[in-house]
Amino acid sequence: MSGLFITFEGGEGAGKTTQIRLLKEALEARGKEVLLTREPGGSEGGEMIRPLLVSGHATWDALTEVLLFSAARRDHLIHKIWPALEQGKIILCDRFSDSTMAYQGYGRGDDKQLQKKLTQLYEMIAGNFEPDLTFVLDIDPNIGLKRSCNRSGNTERRFEDMDIAFHQNLRQAFLKIAKEKPERYYVVSAEQSVENIHQEIMKVVDQYVR
Ligand code: TMP
Repeated sequence: MSGLFITFEGGEGAGKTTQIRLLKEALEARGKEVLLTREPGGSEGGEMIRPLLVSGHATWDALTEVLLFSAARRDHLIHKIWPALEQGKIILCDRFSDSTMAYQGYGRGDDKQLQKKLTQLYEMIAGNFEPDLTFVLDIDPNIGLKRSCNRSGNTERRFEDMDIAFHQNLRQAFLKIAKEKPERYYVVSAEQSVENIHQEIMKVVDQYVR
């Protein structure tokens, strides 16, 4: 596949959406074809599954929750991500499989058995496909949650409403995942100004996009 798949990960209120928009504008200004998308969602079927996962307070057990995220992901890969990569586009995706590992595999505790199932399940739906580049926007959850709670009209609070220990676990999980594969992950402090974060991201993207 000739395109480029870039994912953005991190806890709540890290400013991913703003950074993705700025990066899209910068790349389009250079004449690149960019597809902005998100998970859960991104495709028609994925967007149908999204509210089941992010709104309300359904008590899915851990595996059921993961199966729903995976179903949405498979639909997204088939109908949006893979075709866009074939067309040579740059895809900017707001969350992907690392969110599953962090939120579902570590959020409620370091569950090794579940983590193993998550890896197997991912291989089942995506084979050995993975992002070319992943930015982890790192932020103290106390700051991030304050930001995201202040967003007006936010009805997608199912994970935001988890306790602070859950959000601390996520932060450590993202950092751990990033450390294991330093060639693909870039951790950026999201506690800097929007402009500084954007500059840091651009420096890395410049190594991948001519
Ligand atoms: P966001 O679009 O505001 O980041 O919301 C998506 C929510 O879904 C966020 O709380 C993280 C959560 N999530 C998971 O728990 N697992 C996943 O695999 C993905 C993609 C998202």
